[in-house]
Amino acid sequence: MTAPLDPRTAEPQTRFVRKDLPHDSAAKHVAGTATYIDDVVEPVGTLHIAPGWARKSVRGKILRLDLNAVKAYPGVVEVLTAESIRGTNDCSSAFGDDPVLASDEVLFYGQVIFAVVAETRDAARKAAQQAVIEVEPITPIITAEDAVAADITVLPDYQFRRGSPETGMTAAERRLSGVMHIGGQEHFYLEGQIAMAVPQEDGGMFVYSSTQHPTEIQHTVAKVLGVPDALVTAEVRRMGGGFGGKESQANQWASLAALAAQVTCKPCKMRLDRDDDMIMTGKRHDFRVEWEIGHDSAGRIRAVEINFLGRCGYSADLSLGINDRTMFHADSSYFYPDAAIRSRRLKTDTCSNTAFRGFGGPQGMLAAERMIDAIAISLGMDPLEVRKLNFYDGERNLTPYGMPVEEFETLHELIQQLEASSDYWARRDAVRAFNAENAVLKKGLALTPVKFGISFTLKHLNQAGALVHLYTDGSIHLNHGGTEMGQGLYQKVAQVVADEFGVTMDKVRITATNTSKVPNTAPTAASSGTDLNAMAARNAASEIKSRLIAFLCEQHGCGAEAIHFGDNKVLVGDKSFSLGEIAKQAHMARIQMSHAGFYATPGITWDRESATGRPFFYFAYGGACSEVTIDTMTGEMTVDRVDILHDVGHSLNPAIDLGQIEGGFVQGMGWLTTEELVWDEHGRLRTHAPSTYKIPTASDVPEDFRVKLYESRGNPAETIYRSKAVGEPPLMLANSVFCAINDAVASLKPGVVPELNAPATPEAIMSAVHKIKRAPAARHGEPETS
Ligand code: MTE
Ligand code: MOS
Repeated sequence: MTAPLDPRTAEPQTRFVRKDLPHDSAAKHVAGTATYIDDVVEPVGTLHIAPGWARKSVRGKILRLDLNAVKAYPGVVEVLTAESIRGTNDCSSAFGDDPVLASDEVLFYGQVIFAVVAETRDAARKAAQQAVIEVEPITPIITAEDAVAADITVLPDYQFRRGSPETGMTAAERRLSGVMHIGGQEHFYLEGQIAMAVPQEDGGMFVYSSTQHPTEIQHTVAKVLGVPDALVTAEVRRMGGGFGGKESQANQWASLAALAAQVTCKPCKMRLDRDDDMIMTGKRHDFRVEWEIGHDSAGRIRAVEINFLGRCGYSADLSLGINDRTMFHADSSYFYPDAAIRSRRLKTDTCSNTAFRGFGGPQGMLAAERMIDAIAISLGMDPLEVRKLNFYDGERNLTPYGMPVEEFETLHELIQQLEASSDYWARRDAVRAFNAENAVLKKGLALTPVKFGISFTLKHLNQAGALVHLYTDGSIHLNHGGTEMGQGLYQKVAQVVADEFGVTMDKVRITATNTSKVPNTAPTAASSGTDLNAMAARNAASEIKSRLIAFLCEQHGCGAEAIHFGDNKVLVGDKSFSLGEIAKQAHMARIQMSHAGFYATPGITWDRESATGRPFFYFAYGGACSEVTIDTMTGEMTVDRVDILHDVGHSLNPAIDLGQIEGGFVQGMGWLTTEELVWDEHGRLRTHAPSTYKIPTASDVPEDFRVKLYESRGNPAETIYRSKAVGEPPLMLANSVFCAINDAVASLKPGVVPELNAPATPEAIMSAVHKIKRAPAARHGEPETS
């Protein structure tokens, strides 16, 4: 029964696990045969929905809403308002503060007030513009600073505190402080928000939704329609990208589609226009970060105080977990002896900010890198030296929230290897020489670490279910609660199940995520999709296999060690059968060949009240070294070379993992360099199309891009085949690009910390260049503060 061990990993040999198999949909993506929600064949008579909103207003009481012209528009079947809702007018994940349709008051620019249901999408959209809406204007609160002044939040303040930062700060030889702005980010998933609802018997509703969280779609739709959960089924085969933007914010569109279907008794589809999608849905949180750090003259950190002022928008959405994760990652990879990490969750009259790859972590880590850079610049040290000096190690390994960093050797080793393979020190000399020779162009270099906590910090979300059937021809139906958004989850889970049964990949049928197959699931998020669902699926498969083994032992009067599964066959002693034959025999003997598997992550504890525990099962590590050139006359920037070494434990699929690393890095680079969200003084989002919002394209991928997987000894935590999560951590590798730009600006005046904010657009770079040129020269022993 026991398979031979793989000499490299000292684990059972695998046939498909750890192999570079293509994404299960790769060929279908290219051929155009992968079905997205808008490709699902529309039932006859499907109606189309368009959102109606006040295009001129930001926030205020609705004084007049005249929909007569909308209703009279040719092709219009129904106009939905808050009054059409039979259940509860709320599509929030938890806090009850997200109306599906605004009733008395508009809360932000782009809030949906009514929805038009028409025979065609075009008619619905045109009709929606015929409304007469009058809103009593008020002065909106737009920025984090506005909200601080008004002292208004969506959730209570929260803090981590260790030791006495006040004493530590006073005792420290040197102190630095500063303020940094970190911008938000639009998800720009290629497939926008979309849902189609098809009414069923007895008031039931079947909802196709592009969502990372089918269970929440089910529950929200049931709540809005006023029916039990069991009457609603949500399904998604794949998303054209989610990136966190469909974790909670698919709810509203699914609710509207279902509401329209309930009212009209017809199938109804809602597909948001790109501009509407960008205006109405939440983004990555932007932050004002106020920091102070005490350190010694060698560059060692003594005490840290940080205030994270996060712009949450008009409602809480997922801001609790997101801002908590910012705090959890405010240490990056560094030990803070005394620390106070504070967070305010500010309420603004803007769209409700939401999950985005990294879930607040990237912002916390970037603040930490800024502090390290400030120490290095003010001491005239190399930032990499200061980074390594402050890394967690054997003695100094407790995070500000009390969880030990046990796997610190991986961090040290990985950074050491990257330092060598990127040729950091020789290139540091070359950069210095270049900058000495060039007055206008300046180069910068930075090597930054990633340490990302894996697990949902809401403990109950760390569970998953799977449903596996073995049919009598030996083919396998695989279903689980995870959703596919391009990250390769379905393929990785299928590889695990194929190896469990000893069958080839073509025997495993991957099927759409559906709440009637696997109930009460967590969102596919926190990068833990594979960790959770592959375990649940393996559990289901191995249970069925054990039943077959027990059956065969009895049939053949042998022990389990005589039975082997492999190559679509089952060997019983020296007899060989196809898995289909065995399945048929087992069925005739009335053996159940279906199982619902389950998994819950062991060992995690987190008490938010006392801010103590072990919130993460493990950490995923990485490192990136980036070299950039800036033009100090124009602010233009090029990324010249990037070296990445990333830790995925023993990879389940190196090809897919590399894709995640490359994609995550480039998406992070976009966040930190070109993607800028601009709200005008009235609170209107002015960057709501690709014409004004610049995401990276293929041509922005660094020309010299060297990405490698770290040779891991395997995840010390008992994950599926000792792999590590890979979805979000690589985004934070892009911090190296931001730090390299900062390094280039800093070369203009030694000892002075640049005032560079994120994103480092040409405008932001120019501003930082101008400020540093005007700044007085740093005097020895008197560090500048930025
Ligand atoms: N990769 C692709 N191609 N598309 C996506 O939408 N989302 C990211 C990441 N990688 C995303 C992606 C985010 S935000 C998360 S949390 C993880 O994938 C979720 O999937 P996983 O848990 O299976 O890694
Ligand atoms: Mo990812 S931000 O956890 O959906």
